[in-house]
Amino acid sequence: EGRITTLMQRMTLRQKLGQLIQADITAIKPADLKRYPLGSILAGGNGGPYGNERADTATWVRLVGEFRAVSRRSGAGIPILFGVDAVHGHSNLPGATIFPHNIGLGAAHDPELIQRIGAVTAAELSGSGIDWTFAPTLAVPQDLRWGRSYEGYSAQPSLIAAYARALTLGLQGPITAGTPLPANKVAATAKHFVADGGTEGGKDQGDARMSEAELVAVHAAGYALAVETGVLAVMASFSSWNGVKAHGNRYLLTDVLKGRMGFDGLVVGDWNGHGQLPGCTPTDCALTINAGLDLVMAPDSWKGMFDSTLRHARRGTIPITRIDDAVRRVLRVKAQLGLLDPAPMERGDPARVGTPDHLAVAREAVAKSLVLLKNNDGVLPIRPGARVLITGPGADDMAMQSGGWTVTWQGTDTTAADFPKGQTVGRAIAAAVRDAGGEAVIAADGAAAAKPDVAIVVFGEQPYAEFQGDVPDLAFRPLAGEAELIARLKAQGIKAISVFLSGRPLFVPKLINASDAFVAAWLPGSQGQGVADVLVARRDGTPARDFTGRLPFAWPADARSPITAPLWPVG
Ligand code: GLC
Repeated sequence: EGRITTLMQRMTLRQKLGQLIQADITAIKPADLKRYPLGSILAGGNGGPYGNERADTATWVRLVGEFRAVSRRSGAGIPILFGVDAVHGHSNLPGATIFPHNIGLGAAHDPELIQRIGAVTAAELSGSGIDWTFAPTLAVPQDLRWGRSYEGYSAQPSLIAAYARALTLGLQGPITAGTPLPANKVAATAKHFVADGGTEGGKDQGDARMSEAELVAVHAAGYALAVETGVLAVMASFSSWNGVKAHGNRYLLTDVLKGRMGFDGLVVGDWNGHGQLPGCTPTDCALTINAGLDLVMAPDSWKGMFDSTLRHARRGTIPITRIDDAVRRVLRVKAQLGLLDPAPMERGDPARVGTPDHLAVAREAVAKSLVLLKNNDGVLPIRPGARVLITGPGADDMAMQSGGWTVTWQGTDTTAADFPKGQTVGRAIAAAVRDAGGEAVIAADGAAAAKPDVAIVVFGEQPYAEFQGDVPDLAFRPLAGEAELIARLKAQGIKAISVFLSGRPLFVPKLINASDAFVAAWLPGSQGQGVADVLVARRDGTPARDFTGRLPFAWPADARSPITAPLWPVG
């Protein structure tokens, strides 16, 4: 605190205000920091180093290094904080370890695994020079029509609380006052504060209408544990509570989070979320800073935001006491990351990205995420020596099994080349069948030369992120004749095992009824081998791992939402 006070005493008003604004790499160059001494840079969902969304680790290190170098040489010489959405591993980076999305991790019911996932993610982020991730998401989705349901771990607040602590610890390590985090740890962000998963109809950025008692009991469950564990950042939600946007809610951001809960890190905004406030625009909003936001995420609006905030500061519409409190919070996080040291901490080691030990953690997580919903006549695990057809639109599709927030924002345009260390579910199953002495054919259209003993049909949702995943009801919308495919197989007397790739439970009765076995695989990420470890028996007849996953959300018995009478309850 003393060092921060000394630093602040020699900072100009411009230098202080710069610390309260964050720009996106698609809208700022390192040289801009000479004139605009901003405190933080982010690489949002859509964008990569020098315009390349598939840049490699060394290129990330170079980009972050350039911003850091200019920030240290100009103004008060305070290095920038660099943040990304590493929400299921360092998912911006091809070759990084991509974990199952949170809904699958919720099915695993394993906080110790979550802590290891945090540690792997932090090692790979810092290996890229990055020191901050906008994770964990602590949403408690109540209506699965929400396009971000898969970013929630579970409908159970108690699990969210356990995971909040585990992931924060994994990413940051324990906080020791006055001692910076080690070079392989990064700052975590509890998001989106608060009740992002409780909006009417599951509408993304919508309005959560409820009593404060319900807000606390359900939606704030993870924040108390995250704050207690020392989470360094909290991100304000786009959504509203009883009609008031979180970005402008002084009661929640200041009185509750900072006052009652004692949060002493920084509150960051979400992607121009301040611009949605009454009387505000993306380039002008005193209200959000006065409400308690400390760092405004002004991706492409940072220049206007800087100039308007300077005017507000000079006029006193933003009190200097509020500005100083926000600056102190930002500098406190930087001090905790070792960025204020005379020789600022240079993070990590590029060689730590996608290592075998990291991939093994993801493979374990995939296996633990699978939920067995049906298994007639013990058709699973697949016997050694079986002849297997692997088919369906998801059989050999890394995009479908990884979902949104993967290499690109929506995750819709990725290919196997973007996952050099991964394998699709289909290829992993084929390899495991052959290792056990069987035969395997992958044919997305279901055609096979010789009649197979069993067919694995992999299908589900196409990738989506945020509001692009909002749906009117929970009915599954087949992509490419999945029902006809399974019917054809059954007509030939071939047993059908369905593997369902989805960001949420969906109403899919015909396909469940037609299948001999049905597995909820969620969005497993790059390590398809984790699916094979459970579905395919080895030569000795036993699978590498058994099913242990339990439903993190109830499975719907019809297309209506919220779910009233589930087909299968929360596990
Ligand atoms: C997005 C998301 C938020 C993310 C931020 C930066 O709009 O709402 O979760 O951290 O922008 O990409």
